[in-house]
Amino acid sequence: MSLADAMLRRRSWPAVTDAAPTHDQLVPLVEAAASVADHASLRPWRLIELRGHARVRLGAALVEATGLEGAAAEKLAAKPLRAPLLIAVVSCHKPSIKVPDWEQDAVAAGVGHVLSALLDDAGWGVMWRTGHQTRTEPVSRVHELTPSETLLGWLYVGGKTDRILPPRRPFDASEVLSEL
Ligand SMILES: Cc1cc2nc3c(=O)[nH]c(=O)nc-3n(C[C@H](O)[C@H](O)[C@H](O)COP(=O)(O)O)c2cc1C
Repeated sequence: MSLADAMLRRRSWPAVTDAAPTHDQLVPLVEAAASVADHASLRPWRLIELRGHARVRLGAALVEATGLEGAAAEKLAAKPLRAPLLIAVVSCHKPSIKVPDWEQDAVAAGVGHVLSALLDDAGWGVMWRTGHQTRTEPVSRVHELTPSETLLGWLYVGGKTDRILPPRRPFDASEVLSEL
C-alpha cells in the first residue's frame, strides 16, 4: 500500500481494546517517525509511554489540576484509562540561534502525526487527545518534564475494535491549495 493510501485509510479510534503494542514493537515505529524534517537536526522531542498504573497517576494529576471533587473528579481521573497505552508527545525546546521554538514544536508535532499514522498502518487504534489540563503544573510534574519541555498531548493507543468506522468525507484540496 502506498503512503498516500495508508493516510487516506487512517482514522482515529475513540474506543480501543486492551491490546497494546509492546515497547519492542514501538521502537521501529518511533525510529521511522524520527525521520521527519528537523531543522538543524536538534531532535526537539521525546515520547513517554504510560501503561498500567502510570495512567492512574496521570488521572490523579488531571484532577489535581482542576481541583474537582466527587463524581466529576472520578470521571476525569478515568479518562487516561480509555486506552491501555498512552504515548505522551513532548516538545523539547533546544537552545538555538537559528531554530525558534515554533519550528521545534512543528518537528515534535510531525513526529506525533507520523507515529499515529504508522501505528494505524500497523493495525493499532490511535487517537491523539489533549484537554484543558495538558499544560498544567501537576501534569508536567507527573511526566517529569523540565522547564524547557511542553506536552503536545497523548496518543491513546490500543487494539482496533470490530466497529466499522464511516468512510472519511471526500476532501477537496482546492479549498486549501492555492497559488501565489
Ligand atoms: C494535538 C491534537 C489534540 C487533539 N485533542 C483531541 C481531544 O482532546 N479530544 C478529541 O476528541 N479530539 C482531539 N483531537 C482530534 C482527534 O485526534 C482526531 O483527529 C479527530 O477526532 C478526527 O478524527 P480523524 O483523525 O479520524 O479524522 C486532537 C488532535 C490533535 C492533532
